Amino acid sequence: MAKILVTGAGGTIGRGLVSPLEAAGHELVVTDLAAPYRVVDVRDGAGLDAAAEGCDLLIHLPAWHGIHRAVRSDEEFWQLNVQGTFRALEAAQRAGIRRVVYLSSQAWHDDRYGKYGFTKRVAEELLEYRRRAHGVSYVSVRPGNLTPWGDDWPGEYGRGLLYGRVDREDVLAAIVASVAFLQSTDAGVALDVVRPNPDPLDALERWASDPVGTAEQLYPGAREVIERFGLDVTAQPRISPTGGWAEIGYRPAHDFGTFVAEALRMSESEARALRCPY
Ligand SMILES: NC(=O)c1ccc[n+]([C@@H]2O[C@H](COP(=O)([O-])OP(=O)(O)OC[C@H]3O[C@@H](n4cnc5c(N)ncnc54)[C@H](O)[C@@H]3O)[C@@H](O)[C@H]2O)c1
Repeated sequence: MAKILVTGAGGTIGRGLVSPLEAAGHELVVTDLAAPYRVVDVRDGAGLDAAAEGCDLLIHLPAWHGIHRAVRSDEEFWQLNVQGTFRALEAAQRAGIRRVVYLSSQAWHDDRYGKYGFTKRVAEELLEYRRRAHGVSYVSVRPGNLTPWGDDWPGEYGRGLLYGRVDREDVLAAIVASVAFLQSTDAGVALDVVRPNPDPLDALERWASDPVGTAEQLYPGAREVIERFGLDVTAQPRISPTGGWAEIGYRPAHDFGTFVAEALRMSESEARALRCPY
């Protein structure tokens, strides 16, 4: 079991991590910019050394991300996403921490020279440098979109699972599995934390000519749910990358099919009344 330093613990992912990690027997030092967390600013490193003392694994979360592209400058992205990661890794090294779970993003694939993807790419390189030069082992977790879905469960969450979205529970499970993986391995692995691909994949060839019929074939009940909520499924779902799945044992449990099954168990008004719990 590990004593884990968590940076950015007050965010969408961090808030969900405490219970599953504690349930797995780990002890956590949860840090963020303000109380009730232990106060750490990763941009200038304030508070990092003291928080890292005695820890043996780092989970590094803070970043400006996709939704901040329009409102944060290149400089701000660099300061938090790159400099902040550098400072956290330096402090980790001074404290003797040799295992790191770093939250990267699918933007690494999709937008790797955009403001966000570029800084994630550089930060992943910092990890690889640490592995080669200092023997640090790491998992770069690359989630799809899990931003809170507000009040549109069928449209934002359900329909999203055909496209770039991933269920938050699958992301949390991937991080817990990455921590377990690092207990016994010296490695540097990038893990694509995305929803499972449609099975069989070649069914997607018929999507353009018959999207609803193909969805129904892949996810029984889909036709009824698509019609009930007026979901636009004309765009063909993309094939998700599956890097790191075999090494970490990542098996996402949520896809459009699990959404369809859940939606069919509710009335339309119950489904429309759901609110994002995080
Ligand atoms: N949410 C998503 O859809 C998503 C998708 C892919 C990847 N990611 C990545 O996962 C990580 C966590 O995402 P999230 O959704 O939990 O983000 P979030 O924005 O909800 O949380 C980030 C946390 O970091 C803290 N923080 C900001 N600046 C800081 C600083 N200078 N020092 C210390 N803490 C600071 C914030 O207060 C916040 O609590 C990010 O690296 C993000 O790029 C998120």
